[in-house]
Amino acid sequence: MINGMDTTLSTTDPAIVTRALVRTFDDFRAVDGIDLHVPRGSFYGFLGPNGAGKSTTIKCLTGLLPPSGGDIEILGLDPLQEPLAVKRQVGVVPEDLALIERLTGLETLQFVGRVYGIAREQIRDRSAELLTLMDLTDAAGSQVVDYSHGMRKKIALSAALLPAPRLLFLDEPFEGIDAVASRQIRSLLRSYTAGGGTVFLTSHILEIVEKLSTHIGIIHRGRLVAQGSTAELKTAGGRSGTLEELFLDRVGAGADEDAVLDWLS
Ligand SMILES: Nc1ncnc2c1ncn2[C@@H]1O[C@H](COP(=O)(O)OP(=O)(O)O)[C@@H](O)[C@H]1O
Ligand SMILES: [Mg+2]
Repeated sequence: MINGMDTTLSTTDPAIVTRALVRTFDDFRAVDGIDLHVPRGSFYGFLGPNGAGKSTTIKCLTGLLPPSGGDIEILGLDPLQEPLAVKRQVGVVPEDLALIERLTGLETLQFVGRVYGIAREQIRDRSAELLTLMDLTDAAGSQVVDYSHGMRKKIALSAALLPAPRLLFLDEPFEGIDAVASRQIRSLLRSYTAGGGTVFLTSHILEIVEKLSTHIGIIHRGRLVAQGSTAELKTAGGRSGTLEELFLDRVGAGADEDAVLDWLS
């Protein structure tokens, strides 16, 4: 062990593996025995309708919620046994972003850099690059409390990336943001995976995930109903279709497409 990092760690270990992962709330099984397999260097889109169990899963994987059952392996380590060794290599942007409102954007990045013990010059250089890429340079001196929703997402993502994690968890990064911010985030994520990083991202927006993801998992009512490479899943069962087809096939179209509201016509 050097600085808490397991140097024997094989680089071919998957980034994330779960076996029969369960999380209950009283009698309700929000995550109902899922076996995730996320290869290193992949861009893994974790899809599912609202309430499917995506956020609960990501909270279990990032140590925000203890699982009720099953096993988790992150970068070859057991996060319950070696939480710090895992946290050092992982970045997280949770659903609620967990930002400190009274810090400026730049102070947010400096704060994260210090917590991770990064050298002052490196914090300065990385912050400048991230702020430029996210088009936040002009807002760097303003407090986060005054940021728009999209700016908050971008600074939270920048803070998660500053320590150069090997694995990045993002819960609904494209939720409620405009096309410009969305493109900036996508391009930052692409350069992150091009450098060997792994992304595990939840979303209920199929179109964006379809374009970005090398691998996809679909969760429905706490169960994994599809998992594999994006190319494989699109053509599974002789289908030559889109991800939407697969999604509706596995999750069920739900509401009747032809339903009408009498009072609306
Ligand atoms: N803290 C909690 N207490 C009780 N039920 C919860 C809690 N968190 C989530 N749930 C329930 O678990 C299910 C999955 O929620 P969540 O993981 O947030 O779904 P998703 O992120 O896919 O929209 C939902 O039915 C939700 O109401
Ligand atoms: Mg959610």
